[in-house]
Amino acid sequence: MPKRLYIETVGCQMNMLDSELVVASLRKAGYALVDSPAKADTILFNTCSVRQHAEDKIYSALGRLKHAKKHNPNKIIGVLGCMAQKDQKQIFERAPYVDLVVGPGQLHQIPSLLARIEQGDGQQLEVSLDRKAASREEIERSFESYDPLRDPAMRPTPFQAFVRIMIGCDKFCTYCIVPSVRGPEQSRAPEEIIAEARQLADEGCREITLLGQTVNSYKYSSGGVTTRLSDLLERLHEIEGIARLKFVTNYPKDMSDDLILAIRDLPKVSRYLHVPAQSGSNRMLSRMKRGYTVEDYREMLARVRATIPDVAVTSDFIVGFCGETEDDFQETVDLVGESRFKNSFIFKYSERPGTKSAQLFPDDVPEDVKRRRNNELLAVQNAISEEDNLPLVGREVEVLVEGPSKNAARRHDHDGEQLQLVGRTHCDRIVVFDGNRRQIGQLLPIAVYDANAFTLFGSVVTRHVGPEVYSL
Ligand code: 5AD
Ligand code: SF4
Repeated sequence: MPKRLYIETVGCQMNMLDSELVVASLRKAGYALVDSPAKADTILFNTCSVRQHAEDKIYSALGRLKHAKKHNPNKIIGVLGCMAQKDQKQIFERAPYVDLVVGPGQLHQIPSLLARIEQGDGQQLEVSLDRKAASREEIERSFESYDPLRDPAMRPTPFQAFVRIMIGCDKFCTYCIVPSVRGPEQSRAPEEIIAEARQLADEGCREITLLGQTVNSYKYSSGGVTTRLSDLLERLHEIEGIARLKFVTNYPKDMSDDLILAIRDLPKVSRYLHVPAQSGSNRMLSRMKRGYTVEDYREMLARVRATIPDVAVTSDFIVGFCGETEDDFQETVDLVGESRFKNSFIFKYSERPGTKSAQLFPDDVPEDVKRRRNNELLAVQNAISEEDNLPLVGREVEVLVEGPSKNAARRHDHDGEQLQLVGRTHCDRIVVFDGNRRQIGQLLPIAVYDANAFTLFGSVVTRHVGPEVYSL
């Protein structure tokens, strides 16, 4: 009997990739995946610490397992990822029935740690060094990335995969917990990345999304040769079978011209850039220690748009950061209004213990003000998203078909031939259309007949490919 594993993942794409790797290593160790905690012998949570809310959700999910563990003490419960690195043994204090706590830099140890728990060795904790605990080299070594093991069943679809090109972050924005839980910035060797991408392409993967906290800061030097993200894209572009290349998340200050030109000149690279601005107020940007002014951001955006006119840009914003006044907020509204992002992710500031902003500034914007600013900014963005989607009505777009739409999946009616499918354009726009199962994983031309702020609606363009018949 294989051991049954249930894993729940919250947070960013890094976490989705980490979960894929954990599942791959546990399948090798004889585990099979199940789809509910009730059916599982081992329950793992891959966690996020970026906002309080994400942590609260995990602690309440753990709370719900207390009973299950009492009835079945052999069930193993594990907490992985950023919250594990941040809270460490406090997790055992808050939820004493947790067996395993593993930080994002120690995930490769999970199979052996689970074996120890099964042997009766008790609770296991493996985390990386704190950022001030030792020399940079020692801290770097304590964050290991173990990327070669892949598991297609854990991917969003078998045709799409994430490939990590760097780990960690050195920017230390004052609000952000990431540099302390994911460790120092370290770029992977290009040869490793290319070998991984080749293998994915051989397995039928069409789209690769390169991941890094500040992906465009990628830099790898060896034997006097330095490889930048633009160089890496050029090399990945040559891999047969790969149709699309994306990369997230970009840091505004590192949006260099070589990268912008690479996006322009390499047709497989999506004309899509996620470049978080975080705020439109210089006072806030400086408190956030983002390292640029709003003028710098505007200049960067103008440069990108001048070179790649059809580019779709998305951004992140934090509202209600410490000391944010109505005037500061208005400057953010102005930036969103003029920048015409395809989409913006808007977050209410959430104080994270241990960060610089938690130490330096009071979290003084009331919750209801944060909520109002969040809604207001979202309304501005949604109006723009809709306005920018409407001109696509009547046009043809190329879509990588990802699978049944949420509606079709919910209706369980996808056994038949025809079903509602969902895919994405090269610019990362979501498109819904009717098709059939065989089209999943293909690149298809879609004629768009309707659009709202979030979705394009279309139908597959069928071309006449038989012998031409000319009427006289
Ligand atoms: N509070 C709210 N949002 C945050 N982000 C990062 N840290 C915080 C925080 N403490 C947001 C930023 C980042 C995105 C991934 O999450 O906008 O770009
Ligand atoms: Fe956090 Fe700033 Fe690094 Fe992004 S760049 S992960 S916001 S510290």
